[in-house]
Amino acid sequence: MLEFKSVSKNFGSISALSDISFYIPPGEFVFIVGPSGAGKTTLLKLIIRDITPSSGEILFDGKELSNLKKKEIPHLRQSIGAVFQDYKLISGRTVFENVEVALAVKKVPKEEREARVEQVLKLVGLTERATLFPSQLSGGELQRASLARALVVNPKLIFADEPTGNLDPKTAEGIIELLLKINEEGKTVLVSTHSKDLVSKLRKRVLELEGGKLIKDSDPAEKEEEKEKTDDKDDKVEEKESSK
Ligand SMILES: Nc1ncnc2c1ncn2[C@@H]1O[C@H](COP(=O)(O)OP(=O)(O)OP(=O)(O)O)[C@@H](O)[C@H]1O
Ligand SMILES: [Mg+2]
Repeated sequence: MLEFKSVSKNFGSISALSDISFYIPPGEFVFIVGPSGAGKTTLLKLIIRDITPSSGEILFDGKELSNLKKKEIPHLRQSIGAVFQDYKLISGRTVFENVEVALAVKKVPKEEREARVEQVLKLVGLTERATLFPSQLSGGELQRASLARALVVNPKLIFADEPTGNLDPKTAEGIIELLLKINEEGKTVLVSTHSKDLVSKLRKRVLELEGGKLIKDSDPAEKEEEKEKTDDKDDKVEEKESSK
């Protein structure tokens, strides 16, 4: 689904990402952790082709993103739901309109558009906030509105950049639960976060960035599975590894 092959990104003399490689299969839930400045948002911007790598390749559904023509980029962005750290909601439009905008680009008929917006607002629990403007929403509601906007086009992959950053622990948990539910419904979900607590609670794959380098790529669920197999003196683990 998504593959980084030795990707580096420099901004002048700043190395934001350096020699990053990973593969994310369809349907996976992955946390991206790392301190401020580690390169998490840069990763998101590369995936939606807001920026291009200084070197290396990024493949989404087998296609090299640098080779996409300008007119193919909107199509890519319909496949990837980006939930930005700063929401990027339009302040002069209501929650409903903000979510609907993403569909207008796709030229979906009005009735279908409205039904779809209502459906995602219900999913994120914002039906009763539909006519409010972003300035009238709480942090958690803004986060959910931004998530609704990303979901409305039915993307294959969702990247939520620091979706729990400014939220209290309970609201943050609600957002993560929502993302887990979306993942269970078949979407690939990437979530960047500072919160070690959240990550250690859920046994999901973790990519850890530090100073632009990928310092860890671990899947706790897989590790436990392997441990059980090793305990059984079962050599199937090796088979699994070599068939990757
Ligand atoms: N457009 C840019 N021009 C110059 N430097 C940039 C640019 N964008 C990002 N950087 C630098 O790249 C590094 C990584 O930034 P990035 O925004 O990806 O970090 P982050 O992990 O998302 O941090 P945070 O947790 O604070 O959001 C930082 O040192 C930042 O200053
Ligand atoms: Mg960031």
